[in-house]
Amino acid sequence: MSAKEADLLLRGARLLTLAPSGEERPRVGAAAGDVGAIDDGWVAAREGQVVATGRGGTWERVRLVDGATTEDVGGRVVMPGFVDPHTHLCYAGQRWDEFEARRSGSDYLAILERGGGIHATVRATREASDARLLALMRARLDRAVAAGTTTIEIKSGYGLEPEEELRHLRIIAALRSEAIVDVAPTYLAAHALPGRANGDRRAFLRSAQAVLTRVAEEHLAEAVDAFVEKGVFETEEVAPLMHEAAALGLARAVHADQLNDVGGAGFAARVEARSADHVSRASADGLRALERGGTVAVLLPGSALFVGYPPPDGRRFVAHRVPVALGTDHNPGTSPLEGVPTAIALAVTMCGLTPHEAIVAATANAAHALGRGTRTGALVEGRRADVVVLETDDERELAYRLGARLVRTVYASGQRVAEHETVR
Ligand code: NIG
Ligand code: FE
Repeated sequence: MSAKEADLLLRGARLLTLAPSGEERPRVGAAAGDVGAIDDGWVAAREGQVVATGRGGTWERVRLVDGATTEDVGGRVVMPGFVDPHTHLCYAGQRWDEFEARRSGSDYLAILERGGGIHATVRATREASDARLLALMRARLDRAVAAGTTTIEIKSGYGLEPEEELRHLRIIAALRSEAIVDVAPTYLAAHALPGRANGDRRAFLRSAQAVLTRVAEEHLAEAVDAFVEKGVFETEEVAPLMHEAAALGLARAVHADQLNDVGGAGFAARVEARSADHVSRASADGLRALERGGTVAVLLPGSALFVGYPPPDGRRFVAHRVPVALGTDHNPGTSPLEGVPTAIALAVTMCGLTPHEAIVAATANAAHALGRGTRTGALVEGRRADVVVLETDDERELAYRLGARLVRTVYASGQRVAEHETVR
C-alpha cells in the first residue's frame, strides 16, 4: 500500500469520533451512548492512521501528501468502520428446511439433538474443498465490507473433528492474509458433540484441548469459544479448555445463556473471557459478574429474531454498567445477517438500545470485545483509519431504516474498499 493511497481527508462532516472521555475503555452506563459528535467536522489520516480531527476550516493546517483523497462530504455522517465481533463465516450449505420447520414450531435444540442443526452444516462443510470454502468466505466477507465492516471476527466450529477444525482455521488464516480488512480468528472448540464421539464427551473435550495446543503453536486463532447451553456443553465441562487457552495466551469468549440461563455469563466472567455472547437469558447475578469482570456482553439480535426467542434486554446491561457490543452472528442456522447496520436497527427495535448506544456497541465497544480497543473503533489520533461515510446527515437513520443501504463509502486503513451509488 503506498502512502498516497492511505492519506485521506474528509471534511464538512457530521463526524462521530467515538473518542473516549478519558483513558480508553469500554463505554458503560451514562457513557454507553457517547458518540463524540462534531458538526462541520473533519478527519485526516496519514499512511493509514488517523492523525487529527477537528471542526470547521482548521483542516487547512493538516499536511498530506499530494494526491491524497480529500473530500467535502456535504454534511454526511462520517464515523468509524463497524467492528463485527461475532461471526461464523466458515461454512458451506444452507438450512432453509430447518428454518421453515422452526418457524412452524420445531425446537432449535431438539433439532440439534436429533443430529440436524449444527450437524447438518458440519456435514455440508466437510464436503466442501478448501478452495470452495475460501471462495464462500471471500464472498461473505466482501458483502460485510460493502456494508461497512472493517474488522471482523470469524469462528471455526463447523468442523468438530480435530483435523477438520484445523482445516477450517487454516482456510480462515488464508482469508485473513489476503483480506483488505482486519480479521480476528477464533477457535470455536466446543460447538456440539460430533456423532463419531459416540457420546464420550470427556474424550471429545480432551481432543479439543490437543487441537488448542496446535492452534496456539500455529497462531491459528486469537481466542477460544464454547457453546454453553442446556444439552450441549456445561460450564464445568469446558472450564479446563478455557483455563488451557488462558495458559497458552489465547483470549476466551463464550456462547452464554442464549436459550436458557445456564450460568454462562458468570462463567465467562470467571474465566476472564473478553466477551460473553448472546446472553439473552443471563441472570442478574450473571450481569453483576460481567460488570465486575469488565466482560463485554455481545448482543446478537439476529439470532433471537430468526430463531424466535426473546431478545436480550439491552437496558438491563446498560443499567448494570456492563459494556455492550453488537454483532451479526452471521451463520446458516440462527442468523442470516451480513451487515452490521441491520444489527444496529435490530438492537434498537428489539433490545431497547438507543441509536447512539447501538453505534457505540458496533464500533468502540465491539473493538474492545476483540482486544482491539486502542487500535480501531474510534476516530482518534493513532487509530487505524477505518472509516465509513453514510448517505445521511443523521446517524439515527441507521437505527430506523431497517434494511436500507445507508453506507456510501468504506475506508480500511485509509484505503477506499467500497463505494456505492445511493439514491435518496
Ligand atoms: O451463535 N448457538 C450456537 N451457535 C450459533 C448457531 C449455530 C448453528 O445453528 O449453526 C449461534 O447462534
Ligand atoms: Fe454464534
